[in-house]
This record gives sequence, structure tokens and C-alpha cells, in this order.
Amino acid sequence: MIKKFYPSSLYNFLRFIRSNPVNARILDCGAGGPDPKLAFFYENGFETYGIDISEDQLEATEDYCKKHNIKLNVTKGDMRSIPFESKFFGYVYSYLSMVHLSKNETAQAINEIHRVLKQGGLCYLNFLSKYDQGYNEKKESKPGEVIDKYENEEYLHSYYDDDELDGYFQNFEILYKEKRYILKGKYFNTGRTCILDYIVKKL
Ligand SMILES: C[S@@+](CC[C@H](N)C(=O)[O-])C[C@H]1O[C@@H](n2cnc3c(N)ncnc32)[C@H](O)[C@@H]1O
Repeated sequence: MIKKFYPSSLYNFLRFIRSNPVNARILDCGAGGPDPKLAFFYENGFETYGIDISEDQLEATEDYCKKHNIKLNVTKGDMRSIPFESKFFGYVYSYLSMVHLSKNETAQAINEIHRVLKQGGLCYLNFLSKYDQGYNEKKESKPGEVIDKYENEEYLHSYYDDDELDGYFQNFEILYKEKRYILKGKYFNTGRTCILDYIVKKL
């Protein structure tokens, strides 16, 4: 087992999963990077799958897997068109990755998650609140959509009002919704200060 602690929202999702058994297959949408959250589910006995759109991020995850001698099954893929058959997964999540999609694309990705989930399956997603310090109304390209620059690359971030996302989950039951406001310190090594968490169940 890798000796580390993961973001508390993942433990919260696991708590919901344990009281809602479907199957052991879990998918991470936007799974790449040097700190793959799938390792948490791997350690907890899941059959893990992940997709990411960026070669660099995929490479970083591969390095992590080699270093720790684990197999997470992270491959190239776009959450707007998930490369898996319908009703394959018991669980799907996206951790600070769907935040990069426009609002239209977010609706599209949520439909895709609905498609690949089994009935009764659970999904955990987090989003950026408009109360987050990164939200800047003056820089919006569309309402709630901001293009940020980081190390010469441009990234889109979508920001939401408290209840704006509820309508995106019409084919789900919303089991849990949290607005996490960081008054001091950092949100798990990110500069984020206000996050909206949703755990939803496919109807
Ligand atoms: C901020 S990183 C978070 C990565 C990881 N979830 C973590 O917690 O460390 C965002 C990730 O989302 C990926 N991404 C962005 N758009 C995507 C899309 N349409 N489909 C799949 N992955 C995407 C990026 O390549 C990047 O790896």
C-alpha cells in the first residue's frame, strides 16, 4: 500500500459506494497527472479505469504506476465521448478535471457518464464555485467561463452558482451536495478556495 492520504472527498465517495454496492469497476474521467486519484480506489480493491486527453498527463501517471508497481489502466480518452460501452461501470468520478469543460461540454460529459453507468451506479463530480478566488467576472468569455493562463498555456475553467448544476442531473438522484469554502489554507495543494461536490445516483 502507498503510504499517503487522499483528499477527504474521495473517502466520502467511498463511504457512499460501500453502502451502495453495484460492481467493482470504477472510471476516473481526467485521471492523468503525477498524483492519480485512482490509486486510492486501487488500494481499496476496485478494478480501476481512467481516461485523460493529455499525453503528458498520461505519461506522468504511467511513471507513477511504474514507481509504485501498480496497474491503474489509464488510457487516452475524452470524457465528452467516453470510450467504453454503455452500463459498464458501477462508479464514475472526475476530480478537478471536469472544471476544464465549458458548460455545454459539461452537460455532454454528464450524459456520457450516465450512459456508461449501470442503473443504480454512483458518480462523484466536483466543480468550481463562483465564490472561488479564481473566478473573475471581468475575464469571462461566456457567463461563468474564464480562460486562465498557466505557464504559457491557456486553460478554460467553468464557475457555477450554488444551484446552477442541479439541472444537469435530471436523470440522476442527487444524494449529496456540498459547498466547501476554504477560509484558510489550500484545497489539497491547489489554490482553490471554493468547491461544489456532487454525489449522484443513476435512476
Ligand atoms: C487539474 S488536472 C487533474 C488531474 C487529476 N484528476 C488529479 O486530481 O490530479 C485536469 C485533467 O483533466 C484532463 N482533461 C481535460 N479535459 C479533458 C477531457 N475532455 N477528457 C479527459 N480528460 C480531460 C487534463 O488533461 C488533466 O489531466
